[in-house]
Amino acid sequence: MGKRSVPRYPEDENKGGGICCCLCGCCCFLLVIMALVAGAVIHFFYTMHPKAPSYSISKMAVSKFDFSSSDLTLYTKLVATVRAENPNDKIGIKYAEGSHTVVSYRGTPLCSGKLPTFFQGHNNVTMLEISMEGRHGFGSGLQDALEESEKAGNVPLDVYVTVPVQLQLDTYDLSQIKVNVHAALVVDSISPKKPPTIKSATYQGNVEF
Ligand SMILES: *[C@@H]1O[C@H](CO)[C@@H](O)[C@H](O)[C@H]1NC(C)=O
Repeated sequence: MGKRSVPRYPEDENKGGGICCCLCGCCCFLLVIMALVAGAVIHFFYTMHPKAPSYSISKMAVSKFDFSSSDLTLYTKLVATVRAENPNDKIGIKYAEGSHTVVSYRGTPLCSGKLPTFFQGHNNVTMLEISMEGRHGFGSGLQDALEESEKAGNVPLDVYVTVPVQLQLDTYDLSQIKVNVHAALVVDSISPKKPPTIKSATYQGNVEF
């Protein structure tokens, strides 16, 4: 019995040592992986200098703006010209299918559309023409408010853009993100008679990963 039990302890200790070593090894491995990932991320940010693309609405052209007094609807058709800038040196931007744009007046949508799908290379500025169209219920209260706004020459319009975007590094696809932009515009008037002048614009944007 004594002879058998004595060699058991070193055996058990060895086993314990084995598990400990294995854990150490795993920890080291994980640390190395984490260091590599952190290094890759830091490398990415230092060498690629990813910068947020910027957007601004440079022009609007209204071709239809018709009230229908019979069913109290407003039919609107317009084209917004958006200046999209990709300031990145290495990252291309693919504007994917599934975008949505809306123009609304005091919370009531006037018209909607979508962005063209296209690939924007690095250091590129592209003027996008977004056609939007819609017929929406527009009560007499809103109609009066709009007339007031027109008279004052300050028509507030909200433009919302949501677009899925695929970032590309050379030919590698990076993550697909969703870009949301809200432009709060004030135009002097909205009618097909004369092109609206954009008096002010403020932009807010965020990115969903
Ligand atoms: C920017 O990209 C667009 C779309 O790919 C292209 O048509 C245009 O020629 C590019 N502009 C410049 C200056 O490279």
